[in-house]
Amino acid sequence: MSTHAETRKWTLPALAEAKASQRRLVMLTAYDYSFARVLDANGVDLVLVGDSLGMVVQGRDSTLPVTVEQVAYHTAAVARGLQRALLIADLPFQSDATPERALDSAIVLLQAGAEMVKLEGAGPKLEVIRFLAARDIPVCAHLGLTPQSVLKLGGYRVQGRDQAAASQLKLDALAVAEAGASLLVLECVPSPLAAAVTAASRIPTIGIGAGPGCDGQVLVLHDFLGIDTGHRKPKFVQDFLVQGGSIAGAVAAYAAAVRDGSFPDAEHSYA
Ligand code: KIV
Repeated sequence: MSTHAETRKWTLPALAEAKASQRRLVMLTAYDYSFARVLDANGVDLVLVGDSLGMVVQGRDSTLPVTVEQVAYHTAAVARGLQRALLIADLPFQSDATPERALDSAIVLLQAGAEMVKLEGAGPKLEVIRFLAARDIPVCAHLGLTPQSVLKLGGYRVQGRDQAAASQLKLDALAVAEAGASLLVLECVPSPLAAAVTAASRIPTIGIGAGPGCDGQVLVLHDFLGIDTGHRKPKFVQDFLVQGGSIAGAVAAYAAAVRDGSFPDAEHSYA
């Protein structure tokens, strides 16, 4: 934990430098102050207050009921626990439906302590990304399996499997960067597709169920600690508490495995 890269405060320019120097990025979700402290002290670069909080904290069936106020509440708690990690907060379902609405929502999250907001999708969201980025609000895009579209998708499934969907995802990835996104989460896509997107992307990609070829990795905190949330455990989840022996040890083991490229392996990826 002693290199400059691991002790400095993560900023937007530092993310661009990480992409340029192929330094892999370590990201986890958090929802409260105490976990945020442990993540921050054990090598996590990016912390996400995800709308997954609806499913793993509130016990909902999907992320759709989560509100901006709820994300802001958890963001404020997490922000108090961080010194070096960059804090990203999710724009929940339809809080980013129009550029103006997204701006109002993002202001609430940034004033709660977020340093970047994440939104799902491309298409009409490109205008939203452009609008926020033009107002100096850092944006993380999210493509592939976008859980806020679960009703349309008909479930939580791997995306980009056929040629047309893979081509569209590649175009969308370039488009979100062009619109001003600074980071891109790729969820549940085949490893070769995620690797191709990463190679073509000028912004860092963060995979979750997207194989080892991304610039970084994210997992939901509860999944990574092997906590039973009552939801089906996805193939890409690994319980790091087993090998870490403690929560701090699990975070450090995850950070090391992401950095040395040993996580995710083929067993935790989609071919
Ligand atoms: O809400 C969340 O936790 C997320 C991650 C799964 C990337 O969007």
